[in-house]
Amino acid sequence: MSSQDIPEENLPAEQESAAGEVADERNPFADPGLPPHEPRIQDIDERAAKRSERTVALLFTLSMLAAVGFIASYLAIPVDKSIYVFPLGHVSALNFALGLTLGVALFAIGAGAVHWARTLMSDVEVADERHPIEASPEVKAKVMADFRQGAKESAIGRRKLIRTTMFGALTVVPLSSLFLLGGLGPKPGTKLRHTAWRNGKLLVNMNTNQPMRPSDVAVGSLTFAKPEGLEEHDEEFQNEIAKAALMLVRLEPVDIKDKKELEWSHEGIVAYSKICTHVGCPISLYEQQTHHVLCPCHQSTFDLSDGARVIFGPAGHALPQLRIGVNADGYLEALGDFEEPVGPAFWERG
Ligand code: FES
Repeated sequence: MSSQDIPEENLPAEQESAAGEVADERNPFADPGLPPHEPRIQDIDERAAKRSERTVALLFTLSMLAAVGFIASYLAIPVDKSIYVFPLGHVSALNFALGLTLGVALFAIGAGAVHWARTLMSDVEVADERHPIEASPEVKAKVMADFRQGAKESAIGRRKLIRTTMFGALTVVPLSSLFLLGGLGPKPGTKLRHTAWRNGKLLVNMNTNQPMRPSDVAVGSLTFAKPEGLEEHDEEFQNEIAKAALMLVRLEPVDIKDKKELEWSHEGIVAYSKICTHVGCPISLYEQQTHHVLCPCHQSTFDLSDGARVIFGPAGHALPQLRIGVNADGYLEALGDFEEPVGPAFWERG
């Protein structure tokens, strides 16, 4: 629709804006400009300005006194002295004094500066026109001329030996930084792809530290297990348990939908990695009716009755399952390691 189609009474009336532009048919939204300056009480009343000045000076003086108090507290208050402060209770007298005096010193200096700026400094708003960013053709021509002149004076075109060796140095020197990568430590090798689980390793209850029998896994509960031989005081315990942590759930065998899951279970007991495949939080919530386990970090949900596939949330793939059985003494044991890396998706299966 052109402006000719708009009824005349709906067009903006011609009027001059504060910026001096006139709104008309071609420019219906003229720059309104800045509103007129309203003087503050301090601009017109010298006594009010003096009061503001005294307030600012008072705040700055308070800041100085608090800073002196900070230094005095540091020097005078013993480290082990404690005092009762309502509602904090008993606190270190030194920490309390240092925090209080430094807080007051910083607050007063800030408040003084703000009050000064708001009441006494000029508050006239000014607008500056934006200059063009692009250089003028003359400046561009001068830069190019200087560049050519510099190249000519360096004689890089004539001195082939210098040119060749310079490019060689610029290529080889950055290569040295590649060797710094060696300082990042030994390569992980296949460590991330294997856990402490091996064929015949007993499943040990994380709470009781005892090897588990099938009867120890109750229906409807989540039981956590670790491989036998992995003790909390071991130097590598945290690294190893971060990969080997296991959760066990007892299901009715008829409820297990995934054929491989059923084969790898024992009497309905299934064993899965406890490490979420999103970013590695430990899974800790189990919903007995649906057989879903939930990661508390970002709510990824896995269906333990169907190969622990992801049914909700950001996790990229199912939880790895550990194949389990029972040894001659009736204890639950692993029948190998996980067949895929546990944990987040960035390890990707190889
Ligand atoms: S770590 Fe489990 S959902 Fe993000």
